Amino acid sequence: MNRSFEIAMRWAVMLVLSCAQWVPAHADEPDPASVARGQKLYETAGGVGCKACHGSYGEGKIGPTNRGVNEATIREALAKIGAMQFLKEQLTDGDIPQLAAYTEWMGRHMLVRALLKRGRFIPESVSVYPGTLVQLIIENTASEPSTINGEQIVAHPQTIPPRDSASLEWTAPQTEGKFTVSCGDCKIRDGLLTIEVSNTAKPYTPPPQPKVVAKPLKAD
Ligand code: HEC
Repeated sequence: MNRSFEIAMRWAVMLVLSCAQWVPAHADEPDPASVARGQKLYETAGGVGCKACHGSYGEGKIGPTNRGVNEATIREALAKIGAMQFLKEQLTDGDIPQLAAYTEWMGRHMLVRALLKRGRFIPESVSVYPGTLVQLIIENTASEPSTINGEQIVAHPQTIPPRDSASLEWTAPQTEGKFTVSCGDCKIRDGLLTIEVSNTAKPYTPPPQPKVVAKPLKAD
């Protein structure tokens, strides 16, 4: 066998072995396909989606926040919560782990929201702890589309339709620094959202697992 071919093969084997060793270290990382299917279910289940009652980003609405809830908690809620009974026959057993993959994905991400209103971001600056996984939601309150830019955060200029929002995923670097998102086509003024990565920011801690308590519909 050709010597350099042999060396190349040895390297290839080592590479495969080292990749195989990587898998357990990331075993708690959710499978992206499950997260994506879970998101679809979260938005559409029963025709209205969990989002109708728990908010578009799991932030809570009629029902409490869903960010970080696990499979057991979802199963318990489906069993106990009156308002959720109609969903029982709409979901298969296999749908629940996928929903949980998405709600747990949300739980690992700090939710940062900003409004884009009259060409300004509200708030104009936020600070996050180094290394934080951020889900940045920018809500365009205008009746016209707005385009946001920001090299390190928004890979490509992104247009947010009127009265709609964009969700950006971003991992804050391990070192301190300032990052910005700008509004490229805001007519009134070119707004700027500053994300300050700082050691003095409060580290993000995922929400604790709720205890499901089914309240009677009428207290009497
Ligand atoms: C029609 C409205 C509605 C829909 C749709 C809905 N929920 Fe709920 N859910 C509620 C309400 C209301 C509560 C809280 C009830 C209470 O506290 O008494 C709740 C509670 C929960 C809880 C328990 C949380 C806690 O803090 O105790 C979980 C988990 C949950 N829902 C998950 C889901 C998921 C996942 C979906 C989609 C498959 C969904 N819900 C769809 C209304 C809804």
